[in-house]
Amino acid sequence: MEKEAIIRFERVTKEYDGLVVLDDVSFEIERGKFYTLLGPSGCGKTTILRLIAGFAEPTKGTIYFHGKPVNHVPANKRQVNTVFQDYALFPHLNVFENVAFGLRIKKKKRSEIEEKVQQALRFVNLEGYENRSIQEMSGGQRQRVAIARAIVNEPEVLLLDEPLSALDLKLRTEMQYELRELQRRLGITFIFVTHDQEEALAMSDQIFVLNKGKIQQSGTPKDIYDEPVNRFVADFIGESNILRGTMIEDYLVEFAGKRFTCVDKGFRPNEPVDVVIRPEDLEITTKDQGKLQVRVDSQLFRGVHYELCCYDEDGNEWLVHSTKKAEVGEEIGLYFDPEDIHVMHISEDDGEGSDEK
Ligand SMILES: Nc1ncnc2c1ncn2[C@@H]1O[C@H](COP(=O)(O)OP(=O)(O)OP(=O)(O)O)[C@@H](O)[C@H]1O
Ligand SMILES: [Mg+2]
Repeated sequence: MEKEAIIRFERVTKEYDGLVVLDDVSFEIERGKFYTLLGPSGCGKTTILRLIAGFAEPTKGTIYFHGKPVNHVPANKRQVNTVFQDYALFPHLNVFENVAFGLRIKKKKRSEIEEKVQQALRFVNLEGYENRSIQEMSGGQRQRVAIARAIVNEPEVLLLDEPLSALDLKLRTEMQYELRELQRRLGITFIFVTHDQEEALAMSDQIFVLNKGKIQQSGTPKDIYDEPVNRFVADFIGESNILRGTMIEDYLVEFAGKRFTCVDKGFRPNEPVDVVIRPEDLEITTKDQGKLQVRVDSQLFRGVHYELCCYDEDGNEWLVHSTKKAEVGEEIGLYFDPEDIHVMHISEDDGEGSDEK
């Protein structure tokens, strides 16, 4: 029961006027988890939500709910509710009536509507706001009304399309906590869309990283951060040093003109690869104690750490996050452990698109 897939996409392709916007996408959504669709503008995030909600049909492939194909099942017959980016609240109705709207359409009894609306407002901490007009609510409060309006229908799945993008940074961080907490309390499945990688890492049980209509990687935030499968994911998730290299043999990789012991294996001998080292995994040493020698080009104090931009002799840029500071112009060494080197296959559609942050 725990692991039951509520939703399954099987080789789903979506085209608009012959243009492929989702390309042969397969995934499963389990009950009670927080999922995030993460990717740059135009990669197909909203399209996936529209397919789940029933606002669009796949061109190819099948969507299953609880094992049954639903390609042709209309939106109002699916146990799914959506919180849209602009919230789409009714400005002429007060808070209570906005939340009650779906129940009134379903012709529920007055007492039931009263009880359910109150319960939904309690969930989003808006008790006492029933008679307020929407115009008198702040951005964050409107967002909570939109969520209350969606959860009052007791959906199995709640779809949230960039619901925090209109909020300022402080409120946004607060709402991230609130949403995550709400998901835990309700125990329903959330599918959340964002193009903000920090937000995705902070909130999700599972992330799908999308680019150009394809899922590049799916996994826990830690999987995706620590083990990106390709240059696109490594670049999109967090700051990285990404270099071209050669996998000489198992456990031996060459980059920046040198050979290094690593923990990766299973590549072809001399296979060209991409190599990632995270800035926080580079340690500043004296010039001769480092595995790499670089010159410090610039340095910024970031509160907890210094951010250094350095160059090696070949002209490769090295970003370093360190609690130690260095002098601009100074030659320093960089030390890293074999497990800090992450070797990746070079992906087919590499280059193009990997910079669209
Ligand atoms: N109804 C439509 N008709 C034609 N093309 C569409 C339609 N809806 C979406 N597209 C195209 O499909 C692609 C994916 O769009 P989608 O809205 O899913 O992107 P997104 O990842 O949500 O982007 P954003 O972060 O900008 O919201 C885009 O190139 C878009 O122009
Ligand atoms: Mg979108």
